[in-house]
Amino acid sequence: MARRALITGITGQDGSYLAEHLLSQGYEVWGLARGQANPRVSRMRKLLADVRIVRGDLLDQGSLISAVERVQPDEVYNLGAISFVPMSWEQAELTAEVTGMGVLRMLEAIRVCSGISRGSSPTGQIRFYQASSSEMFGQVSETPQNERTSFHPRSPYGVAKAYGHFLTQNYRESYGMFAVSGILFNHESPRRGAEFVTRKVSLGVARIKLGLASELRLGNLEARRDWGFAGDYVRAMHLMLQAPTPEDYVIGTGHMKSVRELVEAAFSAAGLDWERYVVTDPALHRPAEVDLLCADPKKARTQLGWEPTVSFDELVAMMVESDIRLLSDGGDPDQDSSWP
Ligand code: NAP
Ligand code: GDD
Repeated sequence: MARRALITGITGQDGSYLAEHLLSQGYEVWGLARGQANPRVSRMRKLLADVRIVRGDLLDQGSLISAVERVQPDEVYNLGAISFVPMSWEQAELTAEVTGMGVLRMLEAIRVCSGISRGSSPTGQIRFYQASSSEMFGQVSETPQNERTSFHPRSPYGVAKAYGHFLTQNYRESYGMFAVSGILFNHESPRRGAEFVTRKVSLGVARIKLGLASELRLGNLEARRDWGFAGDYVRAMHLMLQAPTPEDYVIGTGHMKSVRELVEAAFSAAGLDWERYVVTDPALHRPAEVDLLCADPKKARTQLGWEPTVSFDELVAMMVESDIRLLSDGGDPDQDSSWP
């Protein structure tokens, strides 16, 4: 019988790539989707007709229990979250509820449905993946960051992720559950939300190239990130749940670039000089910035055999080309039909 996976956050960037990957591995894939008429579900369905949908919300404990009872998954990937860092200052409580408490609710749903209690030794258990984040490192204490680097989160989002991270570890240690966290550094793709800087830049370049805009407004150009390709990173999620023992892993490329370098690369991929078009806007700076993030992915390489396959320049060119194509064809990045 096919193995069964349940993915929260199925309508997001990672949900779509992970579903594709698991389907290619022969899994029966279920996605948890919230809302009565979520337009992102039909967008996802156009790409992934074989994904089955179960309704549920990370804010609603009962719905998660029902979803686990119905799907009877072998593996649960918890990707659902408020994931845009600036929004986490504007809606800090909601971020804590979805991104933080949502992890507790999902773990409890698995624990209750599996009949796990203190002292019981779980057998045939559901394996759980938590989408932890390099944002937990925040104001970094060392560079590069590895699985032992301390956390100093700099946003309500980072704090909520740290809660989910420690809770996952705690359920592993308290109940013997196969529960792991992937500490993933920034990963991008043509399916990235338009609010994140890489996609904002690739869409901005495409609009300027096609004469649809004359400038691109950005915030802090000096921040540095370790950017990789989302398609590579979902393979790591799957590998973590196939490992013989439940452990946490850092996933990133080990290379860091500034937002300024991202902008240079993206404009140059379209044959444009960025300095003619980019305007910096102090209103786009964050209350507290994460200045730099750079992964040390050695553990994932040696224990999981995981390697990224797409370089920074290839990623930027892929996104710029995709957005030029999208806008040339009259697509709208905010509409269902335009999702590449
Ligand atoms: P994304 O595109 O923003 O997707 C977020 C998903 O969460 C969407 O499917 C959204 O569904 C869902 N969601 C929001 N509120 C929910 C709720 N109350 N109940 C259930 N689902 C809810 O994020 P992503 O880039 O794919 O990232 C996936 C996960 O990895 C997130 O947890 C993110 O924080 C984490 N992460 C991402 C990165 C990265 O660089 N991409 C790095 C480290 C960690 P709706 O359609 O209903 O809004
Ligand atoms: N979004 C955005 N918009 N960011 C900008 C802009 C802008 O106009 N100008 C400069 N930046 C800088 C931000 O200040 C930040 O330092 C950097 O670009 C990256 O911002 P985002 O792309 O929004 O991503 P993030 O690093 O805050 O968070 C992403 O990666 C995390 C992993 O480290 C998200 O995907 C999180 O969910 C994820 O956990």
